[in-house]
Amino acid sequence: MDVKEFVDKQIEEIKKVVGSGKAVIATSGGVDSTTCAVLTHKAIGDNLQCIFIDTGFMRLNEPEFVKKFYEELGLPFKIIDVKDHFIESQKGLVDAEKKRKMFRQNFYDTFSKAVKSHNCKFLVQGTIAPDWIETKGGIKTQHNVLDQIGINAVEKFGFKAIEPLAYLYKDQVREVAKYLGVKLEMAERPPFPGPGLLVRVIGEVTREKLHEEKVASKIVDENLEGSQYFAAIIDNKEEKIENSIKKITSQFFGIDPKQVTVRILKNKVTGVKGDLRAYKRLAAITIKKDSKLFLPDIEKLEDLQVDIISKNPDFTRVVYNVTEKSRKGKYLILMRSITTRDFMTADVTHIAWNKLTSTANKIMKDCKNVSEVFYDITPKPPATVEYE
Ligand code: XMP
Repeated sequence: MDVKEFVDKQIEEIKKVVGSGKAVIATSGGVDSTTCAVLTHKAIGDNLQCIFIDTGFMRLNEPEFVKKFYEELGLPFKIIDVKDHFIESQKGLVDAEKKRKMFRQNFYDTFSKAVKSHNCKFLVQGTIAPDWIETKGGIKTQHNVLDQIGINAVEKFGFKAIEPLAYLYKDQVREVAKYLGVKLEMAERPPFPGPGLLVRVIGEVTREKLHEEKVASKIVDENLEGSQYFAAIIDNKEEKIENSIKKITSQFFGIDPKQVTVRILKNKVTGVKGDLRAYKRLAAITIKKDSKLFLPDIEKLEDLQVDIISKNPDFTRVVYNVTEKSRKGKYLILMRSITTRDFMTADVTHIAWNKLTSTANKIMKDCKNVSEVFYDITPKPPATVEYE
């Protein structure tokens, strides 16, 4: 891609479509929307209003961070606080797609109002290629995909969506960001999904569960590494399901089955099978030998995961216990780190065990309702990057 040519062409295009009108941009504080905002500002100047919807599903202190960042960029910026409404409307929803669809509805209702109150007809958004490819392909409902799946934004929400980055992949967006002079701390920021921690609070969202997730997320953000890394939280509730995982695991390592504990969680998680979305089971494995955690090479665990998932088609994920001292608690934390170029496929990042166990210890110290912490050993496919 010739970055200069791309930028010049998009600026011309935005000028042509918006003319002397006004536009708002839905910014999440991620690299896609920020790049899009800077690009659009170059085209239409202060006729662009950047709006950050504080859904409550952001990282700890994120609204403050984004506000400061946008002010430094010199872009018109405003926060709309809809935290209570967003969380209340999720009450009783457990299914991942229902949660995403409710989020999308709330999100665009909020934006329709903002677009009207700013007298604009255009909503600019930082949708990139994998967003609509995967939404269209039925892998997930991404909040920022409308036209590509036949939702007429003009009729339904009263604005036209403009998506200058729609054909780019993440690494190309980062190139554009750097070309536009966006600071590296943003241009290289690990991606954060639009619905935010909503899709990392697996199953039903409660204020308590969301709070524990925010605390764990911050710790993982500060301690792990990879193309993308984060914590997710899941209910510590099990489901009895016939499976061969305990046997496969003990045979794989040649150890006594008594040293292996396999828990199948009630909350389902997303994955991809073939080209289709799968909403299936997660197996949480603990191996203790002589009451000490057994921590083999991560490569070995990846082979184990292949063995487990190929023989148990109801599963899309395997996570591995890294908690030195478990206790009773309502939730489990899942740490995930992946390495990838395009996010369409992803490998598990090989992080040293002492880093994983020390991060888990910090989470156990600060999240009092968490009973154990696991590391996800599943690539994409068969898992997705996010859990919902
Ligand atoms: P998945 O889970 O589909 O994630 O393997 C691939 C990449 O997309 C991000 N992602 C999202 N980004 N809105 C976004 O803006 C969303 O709804 C969404 N869902 C997933 C994910 O974080 C990863 O980088």
